[in-house]
Amino acid sequence: MAKQRLDKILASTGKWSRREAGELARHGQIVVDGVLVRSADEKADPDTAKIIVKGERLEYQAFIWVMLNKPAGYLSATEDGRDATVLDLLPEELQRRNLFPVGRLDKDTEGLLLLTNEGILAHALLSPRRHVDKVYYTRVAGRLDAVDCAAFAEGMSLADGLQCQPAGLEILKAGEESEALVTLREGKFHQIKRMLAARGKPVLYLERIQMAGLELDRTLSRGSFRFLTGKEVENLRKLV
Ligand code: URA
Repeated sequence: MAKQRLDKILASTGKWSRREAGELARHGQIVVDGVLVRSADEKADPDTAKIIVKGERLEYQAFIWVMLNKPAGYLSATEDGRDATVLDLLPEELQRRNLFPVGRLDKDTEGLLLLTNEGILAHALLSPRRHVDKVYYTRVAGRLDAVDCAAFAEGMSLADGLQCQPAGLEILKAGEESEALVTLREGKFHQIKRMLAARGKPVLYLERIQMAGLELDRTLSRGSFRFLTGKEVENLRKLV
């Protein structure tokens, strides 16, 4: 990789801002290939240089994977002229790393959203051929029953022409309002809302709780994120 400014390299890890990187350099806390640097304007090749920050080796990651607990009110997009996007929930350093959402959640849907800059793996995970399961918790108006479960399992044909693959519907609570888990292997536009509306039980609330074997990390408050661990990314690679 080409040489980059040290403040950019440090900021790309998400641990420090560029300003903090500058301060670290001024305080003699950055060593590159054994040489103390005094300015974060200096450049290094992040792939080959041994960069030590505050006594610890900096692990530069070309690819970043983030799990976001998406709140309602944000678009699953990288930019929008009008509405806030999920990128607005990330710190500036990460916004500069070309992250994009791996699939979309509706503006009012909450829960697990992955963001990455690793295009090939992200697209492989989204490919309908891969059968990567996504699990959603939903609350609907109306009483869900075994006929709804059978319709989901069979693969619904919607009046608007959408032919759905077989999907899972596990009823958690049946009443005037019902709760259920929906498992999809595809992700068509508003799919769960359309499927449940076709059953006469419109969605009141939708939250993704699992995707590609990853559970929504409940230690993340709505709107906050964490990096995936190396093991979690490795497991994603094994899926495709
Ligand atoms: N299905 C929907 O209807 N909306 C989502 O956000 C995800 C799945």
